[in-house]
Amino acid sequence: MLAKEEILISLKKALDEMGIKDVKISLEHPKIEAHGDYSTNVALVASKILKKNPFDLALELVEKLNSLHSTLPNIDKVEAVKPGFINFWLSKEYLTKELQEAIDKGINFGTQSKTTTKTVVEYSSPNIAKPFTVGHLRSTIIGDAIANLLEAIGWTVYRDNHLGDWGTQFGKQIYAIKEWGNESELDKSDRPIKLLVDLYVKFHEEAEKNPSLEEKGRKWFKKLEDGDIEAKRLWEKCVVWSLKEFKKIYEELGVKFTENNGTGYGESFFEDKMGIVISDLEKKGLLKESEGARLVFFPKDKYPPLMIMKQDGATLYATRDLATDKFRLEKYGKDVVVINEVGAEQSLYFKQLFEVEKLLGWYKEGQRIHIKHGLYRFKDKKMSTRKGNTIWLEDVLAEAEKRAAGLAKDKDLLVAKEVGIGAIKWNDLKKNSEQDIVFDWDEILNMQGNSGPYLQYTFARTQSVLAKTGIDSGQARMTSFWGAERLRNLKPEEVSLLRTLIKFPEVVEEAGKNFAPNILCNYLFDLAQKFNLFYEKHKIIGSENEELRTLLTKVVGQTIKNGLNLLGIQAPEKM
Ligand code: ARG
Repeated sequence: MLAKEEILISLKKALDEMGIKDVKISLEHPKIEAHGDYSTNVALVASKILKKNPFDLALELVEKLNSLHSTLPNIDKVEAVKPGFINFWLSKEYLTKELQEAIDKGINFGTQSKTTTKTVVEYSSPNIAKPFTVGHLRSTIIGDAIANLLEAIGWTVYRDNHLGDWGTQFGKQIYAIKEWGNESELDKSDRPIKLLVDLYVKFHEEAEKNPSLEEKGRKWFKKLEDGDIEAKRLWEKCVVWSLKEFKKIYEELGVKFTENNGTGYGESFFEDKMGIVISDLEKKGLLKESEGARLVFFPKDKYPPLMIMKQDGATLYATRDLATDKFRLEKYGKDVVVINEVGAEQSLYFKQLFEVEKLLGWYKEGQRIHIKHGLYRFKDKKMSTRKGNTIWLEDVLAEAEKRAAGLAKDKDLLVAKEVGIGAIKWNDLKKNSEQDIVFDWDEILNMQGNSGPYLQYTFARTQSVLAKTGIDSGQARMTSFWGAERLRNLKPEEVSLLRTLIKFPEVVEEAGKNFAPNILCNYLFDLAQKFNLFYEKHKIIGSENEELRTLLTKVVGQTIKNGLNLLGIQAPEKM
């Protein structure tokens, strides 16, 4: 049995015997190593119910646990500390046994078997004929990492991309292409979006002088909706031109989608699926008219009303989202968990959307999740895609690779790419996603700090040690260290590494269940630091403990690599 389960069962038993029922027992990994491998606050929680001193209760519980000692064979020590926590230390035998498991699992270390939970993780979702913004970059990176983590904990994951490929802006875009554009130039260009954006900007400049253009744009959108051949042809071209660029970015980032043949279901897919949504809303009496438009008003004005149909009968972003989420229930099953990775600026919108979906009886509590990300700040200025100060993602990625090439010893282009992209991803994932991030090249590529290159460098270091050691790490077994005496003699840095390593699967689970890749980043950074400390302090090759140290090195390498891969980051062998 796993030590964690063992602790939970014994705690429950001890509480039962003390007549304490119905308290939630939670176990955590203490932040400070001196607080053991697991810690529980159950005595603090129970003391409130029993109106007892928490520390006294913790002491009583520890006594009870010690008398039940046989139920905790994998625990070395249990201790009560003020104000009432109980800390547990794993036995070294257990640690080594678990390490052996890790070795045997190899690339699957950290991965769990399949469960029945299904989820749609929707991320990236850029807009056709608009720049792929740094906001979309964040969504792509964070969404992909969350999808990987959920897959690792056994969920079935559908990866979707809700492309913004429909809406009134296409009327203006089509007008602008016809008026000022050059289709063959657009066809040939490898940065067609730039040209499309220029045309779009020109439309607005001209419309300022001549307001009748707005009406012309509206007409073209109407034509598009009515299936006009020319309108449809140009719209499709916009999609093709944009996808050409987006696909390059996804390739660069190593990110994929599974739905709709890998393209994702964009907004346009739902164009003919909105009528039924409107009638669903009508049936439930949720639609009200106001100045010709149709809106959902929320009970007790919990949120501002959400517009579903404009005066002129046109549908909106929200209407298409509702159609999308209805489709998802039908396609993936009524228990599907739907996650949207979208910027925090759409928080209110998603609250409104989720509320409507609840009012419609479609989704239950916990089935709809908005993972928000904060902004990128670039020298204190919000990176904006509007007006002159557009930041082109291609340029950012190219710059990352250029700088990474200067960093790596190995002047391998592929390595430079993996380091550059890895650096950007790590910078994005290492903090709670809701926080804003500062885009600072020095921090992103800092080999000494909490950065992607530091993790990759540590991995490469493990590989170079393994290449030099005389021990065949594939053959070596942890079991040869089970001798009690040897275990007693483990150095503190060795024990610390052992204790950290075996937590990996639980960290992956925690990161997945909380949709929080930063939990995994924190862990990996801590592990890498511990390894580097161990490496600086102890000789590995040629030491009396060569075999054990080689194995530790091997598992550290495997764990960093598995962890980085879950974050969507490559781990080059050499750097
Ligand atoms: N295309 C939108 C944008 O760029 C993001 C779409 C988010 N997903 C959704 N289901 N609404 O702002």
